[in-house]
Amino acid sequence: MGKSNFSLWNIWVASTLLKCLLFPAYRSTDFEVHRNWMAITYHLPLKDWYIEDTSIWTLDYPPFFAYFEWILSHLVPQFVIDDNCLVISAEPPAFSWPSVFYQRSTVILSECVLFWALQWYINSSQPGTERSKNFVVASSIVLSPALTFIDHIHFQYNGMLFGILCLSLVNAQKKNYLACAVFYTILLCFKHIFLYLAPAYFAFLLRNYCLNIPKKVPRSFSSVCKIVNWLNCLKLGSSMALVVGIAFGPFAYYGVITPLVQRLFPFARGLTHAYWAPNVWAIYSFLDRVLIQFYRHVWKTPVESLASTTSGLVRVVDFTVLPNITPKVTFLLTLFYQIFAILPVLITPTFTKFVGSLTLCGFASFLFGWHVHEKAILLVIIPFTFIVPKDKRLFEVFKLLTCAGYVSLFPLLFRPAEYGFKTLYTFVWCVIYYASFEEITPSLPRRGFWNRFNLIYIIGLLPVVTIVSVLEMLSSTVPVLQRFEFVKLMIYSVYCSIGVIASWNSMSWLYYLDDEIWS
Ligand SMILES: *[C@@H]1O[C@H](CO)[C@@H](O)[C@H](O)[C@H]1NC(C)=O
Repeated sequence: MGKSNFSLWNIWVASTLLKCLLFPAYRSTDFEVHRNWMAITYHLPLKDWYIEDTSIWTLDYPPFFAYFEWILSHLVPQFVIDDNCLVISAEPPAFSWPSVFYQRSTVILSECVLFWALQWYINSSQPGTERSKNFVVASSIVLSPALTFIDHIHFQYNGMLFGILCLSLVNAQKKNYLACAVFYTILLCFKHIFLYLAPAYFAFLLRNYCLNIPKKVPRSFSSVCKIVNWLNCLKLGSSMALVVGIAFGPFAYYGVITPLVQRLFPFARGLTHAYWAPNVWAIYSFLDRVLIQFYRHVWKTPVESLASTTSGLVRVVDFTVLPNITPKVTFLLTLFYQIFAILPVLITPTFTKFVGSLTLCGFASFLFGWHVHEKAILLVIIPFTFIVPKDKRLFEVFKLLTCAGYVSLFPLLFRPAEYGFKTLYTFVWCVIYYASFEEITPSLPRRGFWNRFNLIYIIGLLPVVTIVSVLEMLSSTVPVLQRFEFVKLMIYSVYCSIGVIASWNSMSWLYYLDDEIWS
């Protein structure tokens, strides 16, 4: 590190070569989803984008993403069009490598936003230890196994989206509050899952940009009025409204806002996804299954058979023994924990506290939200990475979270061909980055109970991964094992939820009770 110029360029070149090797790897239905969105935006006028439903993979991201797909569709070369890349059809059309090549390249190119944002983050630090800290943070994000698996194998555009989030965070750190708000609004108009971070942004911008709390108690009416910085409020409000106007304006003009909003918020989906994301509801569903077995075999009481309607799209799990969970309950729980997470920011609105509250908002939505995907763990891990070098205790939490979070993504890549890659890549990332973070974070005075828990937990992941993968390999030869398909997923989600919940617990503890980290 001594002579390094802290540039992400080499990492970009090396990782791009690796990502090109992943071109033929497994693609999920998200590949077809994005292909279909390109086709829709290419062939149809804007007013029909959110109404079209020939294919089941309808457009359900906010307008900026639709514009992005529109741009991509107009850059498609002729030989890729001839490959059926832009055909609107109910069933996926027959396409071959030109389409794959094109779409995979767009992911790599759009990810440059992330590299650029993080290079800026590195550049903006003081040369010396601070720069090497920022370099470790930045490179750990761009090389994150989650981004590699989800974007370059499974197929999504998270790199670009989290790049915009990082732009917003770097602006927050540099006290460019207006730019911070504008980038965040742009991000929301790309993908509305980032709404989960809104409470933290609200508190941070309100306190830093819209209010000036006086040192002394205000005595007159005019000094009370001066608490609110009216000019800044106006600037903030109008620039955010401008971004939203550019995004939604054209759709409002054609009067298609209602179908658009219905597409964005489909509450008809179930509480849990087909594969349970490792959160509180995974444990809840697991308890329900265990209780059913008790009713059947120990208490010999009949319970109604499991109402598990499985289809490719949506799986509705009705709890048999435990009470059902409604969207309202999940919403209230998430909001409750998020409000707690923003209180410290309202009191001392520093950048570190803000990132801490972003992390906790991400945690609350991941653990208690409705129909959470395992991929949403990025919403926690990426903001969190920025504050890890602050303190060794945070680093301990980070280890637990990344181990559990990254392993929980393994079922996304289930083909034997990707098996070696996913385990090896995650293992190498953990070894390299745990060692680097260990080196750059200030040392810990004493090792507590939680460190021992972390160590045992992380070591425990090895047998879990091994057992599940042996089951996986055997199930192709021993047909009986195929009946236990679900058990493998359950092992992963239950074990990983323990890790994620434990890391949330320690993070909350540090956030609310340990002032010296955040000052
Ligand atoms: C970072 O600094 C390097 C060297 O000073 C410069 O070449 C590069 O353009 C900068 N990048 C960003 C994104 O600011």
